[in-house]
Amino acid sequence: MSIHNIHIAFIGAGNMAEALIKGLLDAHITSSDKLIAADVNHARLTWLAEEYAITPALSNTDAVGRAEMIVLAVKPQHILQVLAECAPSARTTQTFVSIAAGITLSRLEAALPPRTAVIRAMPNTPALVQRGVTAIARGTYAHDTDFHRARDLFLAVGKVLELPESLMDAVTAVSGSGPAYVFYLMEAMIAAATTHGLSLTDAHTLVVETVRGAGELAARFHEDPRELRRRVTSPGGTTEAAIRALDARKVKDALVAAIAAAANRSRELGA
Ligand SMILES: NC(=O)c1ccc[n+]([C@@H]2O[C@H](COP(=O)([O-])OP(=O)(O)OC[C@H]3O[C@@H](n4cnc5c(N)ncnc54)[C@H](OP(=O)(O)O)[C@@H]3O)[C@@H](O)[C@H]2O)c1
Repeated sequence: MSIHNIHIAFIGAGNMAEALIKGLLDAHITSSDKLIAADVNHARLTWLAEEYAITPALSNTDAVGRAEMIVLAVKPQHILQVLAECAPSARTTQTFVSIAAGITLSRLEAALPPRTAVIRAMPNTPALVQRGVTAIARGTYAHDTDFHRARDLFLAVGKVLELPESLMDAVTAVSGSGPAYVFYLMEAMIAAATTHGLSLTDAHTLVVETVRGAGELAARFHEDPRELRRRVTSPGGTTEAAIRALDARKVKDALVAAIAAAANRSRELGA
């Protein structure tokens, strides 16, 4: 494992950093003494450091000075300010990994010393339960060692795909924001279930387990969802009636428009 013996610093100790830290430790990919975190929110940093027995850095610069791999896990609007702070302590032997939505490799590289190895990644929140999917793209100066470090980091919290950077806006729209589309569907299903007399608790259980089971079926059998849907849709049956109602309201078109809106927004954020 290429990250077993290196120190990894997280700049920004929020939700995503926690998911990655928890994943790395739960999967025994590294040990807590190899992990460092920095955050402007001191209460959050102290809590995270105590919870996972990792080292709280005194500052972003201190964190960069202590690690071979630096994970930039702040919101996109904070990334350039963070890079300006980190750049003076950056070394060309380090790997910088950014998970900030929309921030391009060229902007990241321009903000760091020349020839710094940078990887851009787009994970998603199921990483919190080690069921994430992450797309990663290599920067101009990222070698195989850098790529393998980033790949192993995200493998700790799910699956990893290497893709060209030109597809990152699409990835952001599909899997980065994707869990929210599923939650949106779940909200509607739960609300509908309660109007048909189910208690909120029972509706929640029925919907959550249905989504979990459907996802597991699709993942385990690698089948086209269309085929899986066909199998539960008997002619003249209940599912067919439901799909007809969805089609009549152009729900597929709405999803296509939602993904296009998210991809456009990702492009705008990167501009
Ligand atoms: N959550 C997702 O679904 C998801 C998916 C894919 C990618 N991402 C990307 O992951 C990144 C982090 O997202 P998140 O959900 O983990 O955000 P988050 O929970 O808000 O965590 C970011 C942390 O960084 C801190 N911070 C702000 N400015 C800082 C600075 N200058 N130096 C050090 N720390 C600073 C924040 O403190 P304050 O709260 O005090 O500002 C916060 O604790 C984002 O760029 C996002 O685009 C998120």
